[in-house]
Amino acid sequence: MLDKDRIPRHVAVIMDGNGRWATKRNLPKMSGHNAGMQAMKEIVKRASTLGIEHLTVYAFSTENWKRSVEEINGIFGLIVVYVAKELKELDENNVKVKVLGDYSKLPEKSVESLEKALKTTENNTGLQFNIALNYGGRDDIRRAVTDIAKLAAAGRISPDDIDEQLISDYLWTGVHHANVPDPELIIRTSGELRLSNYLLWQCAYSEFVITNTLWPDFTPEEFEKCIEVFQGRDRRFGGRNK
Ligand code: IPE
Ligand code: IPE
Ligand code: MG
Repeated sequence: MLDKDRIPRHVAVIMDGNGRWATKRNLPKMSGHNAGMQAMKEIVKRASTLGIEHLTVYAFSTENWKRSVEEINGIFGLIVVYVAKELKELDENNVKVKVLGDYSKLPEKSVESLEKALKTTENNTGLQFNIALNYGGRDDIRRAVTDIAKLAAAGRISPDDIDEQLISDYLWTGVHHANVPDPELIIRTSGELRLSNYLLWQCAYSEFVITNTLWPDFTPEEFEKCIEVFQGRDRRFGGRNK
């Protein structure tokens, strides 16, 4: 049974398997991404009712630019569709949308939709729904290093002031951007045992739950099961519990 009193504050998800879901059905890849969007919609709702503070989804990585132009544009097109269909309900449910990653590199229509979603929900106080878009963990760290180097070069900090907290602060998840705590739990669907450049700094002590379910088949019930698995883990952070 899920312990409602020990819900993680931040769950991050690697929504993988849309392509395989489509291939299994002899459908084009975009049908998989479409179905994946439906699955995501339901997970956002469940995360919100469970009282999770932050749900972060990996929607497009800095490496996903290697895919075909059709697929890339299809995925970005889905953002426009998602915002058009769901923004009202997200807002009614008090969900606050944030983006992790440089979304200015996306097509104009997607940028406009995202900005509308950000603006409409900026004062909401319920679930913070972080969408990792054009996100890469290494790029995240590189950007933070650049910002901090600029502060040092301008004489506003000394190199000796650079501690782990300062680095965290300048990441996309840091106080200067989306302000998200490190994820306690990272869920990856479709069975791949890798991080694929997701939240590299932030996942230092995250628990991983991997399921073979392809993302479009991932249900709110399975999402709760993953949290139950997390609740059964012995988190030691390098120390000893017993
Ligand atoms: C995840 O599904 C969605 C994105 C990467 C945008 P994939 O498209 O990677 O699905 P598979 O891994 O090919 O099955
Ligand atoms: C990770 O999935 C990125 C997203 C889910 C957006 P990929 O499908 O891109 O990862 P790899 O290529 O299998 O490592
Ligand atoms: Mg994949």
